[in-house]
Amino acid sequence: MPIILAIESSCDETSAAVLDGGKVLSNIVANQTIHHEYGGVVPELASRAHQENIVPTTTLALHRAGKNLQDIEAIGITIGPGLLGSLMVGVSFAKSMAYSLGIPLIQVNHMQAHILAHFIEPPYPTFPFICLTVSGGHTQLVLVKSPYDMEIIGQTLDDAAGEAFDKCGKIFGLGYPAGPLIDKYARQNKAEIVFTEPQIPGYDFSFSGLKTAILYHVQQHKAKDPAYLQHQLGNLCASLQATIINILIKKLTKAAQDFGIRQVAIAGGVSANSGLRQALEQTGRQNGWSTHIPKFEYCTDNAAMIGIAAHYKFLIREFSSLSITPSARLPF
Ligand code: KG4
Ligand code: ZN
Repeated sequence: MPIILAIESSCDETSAAVLDGGKVLSNIVANQTIHHEYGGVVPELASRAHQENIVPTTTLALHRAGKNLQDIEAIGITIGPGLLGSLMVGVSFAKSMAYSLGIPLIQVNHMQAHILAHFIEPPYPTFPFICLTVSGGHTQLVLVKSPYDMEIIGQTLDDAAGEAFDKCGKIFGLGYPAGPLIDKYARQNKAEIVFTEPQIPGYDFSFSGLKTAILYHVQQHKAKDPAYLQHQLGNLCASLQATIINILIKKLTKAAQDFGIRQVAIAGGVSANSGLRQALEQTGRQNGWSTHIPKFEYCTDNAAMIGIAAHYKFLIREFSSLSITPSARLPF
């Protein structure tokens, strides 16, 4: 069973993990706080921060795992999708490591890795299962037939669910990323505002209309009451979160029913949301599903999920050439 060093650098987190036979020995995540003041990830600053963080993060991951470079049998690396400049830092680093150590390089699709995070710790979902992958850049409903066979059956036509949290958070005057803060305020407040949900056929999603509706709502109320945001922030957060969760759970339920599948999972940064986790469990109980939610630290971007995806590829000897280049957009 292989010892794998995995690296993730697709967005604003630099992460390194060491796995032994699929078991996580270490998973270090360096967050980039520089973006907070800009209200979103600044790609150039993200690449520079990855360059600064990648060596110390990897060194710490090896140290915490009690391993040295000679113990590593393969390097797992995120090849995309993500920010090109950020991906390039990780991919160049991983390629040089694989070359200098004379070990295989294994490229991993970031979105598939979010799904395979479910196989880091038992109980694992059984195949086939439906996974709702919700992150800052993607919202996908995926039919997962095996670790090697996944089919996207629905996705967002515009903004991702995480983007909806972050962009509406910006309207509310919250810093980036707003998702965790909205979650916190939503837990402490009641949702009293009803926002119209989009009517999109099939399994696809849309969140840009909701963002516009919230912008107009806030502008109209602020015109009458300049302190509106201050005293209604909790209500706004709870109402926004409830609307996003409703949209997500409805499509997830439709997909599970239409495909006749009772193994249902969520993944990606937004699956850290306490309201979504609760809603999935409740809907699961009502429908007799077996529900799967990754441990909190494996929801947002991390290298352990890249490591488990690389582990599965190692088992079938699916290695990558040292001439691979990252892709900002990458289909399954
Ligand atoms: O998967 P991820 O870490 O990075 C991407 O691949 O995009 O997801 C980041 C997204 C951000 O939009 C962030 O606001 C959102 O996940 N997020 C949350 C929560 N924690 C992170 N959204 C809602 N509630 C949370 N607790
Ligand atoms: Zn992600």
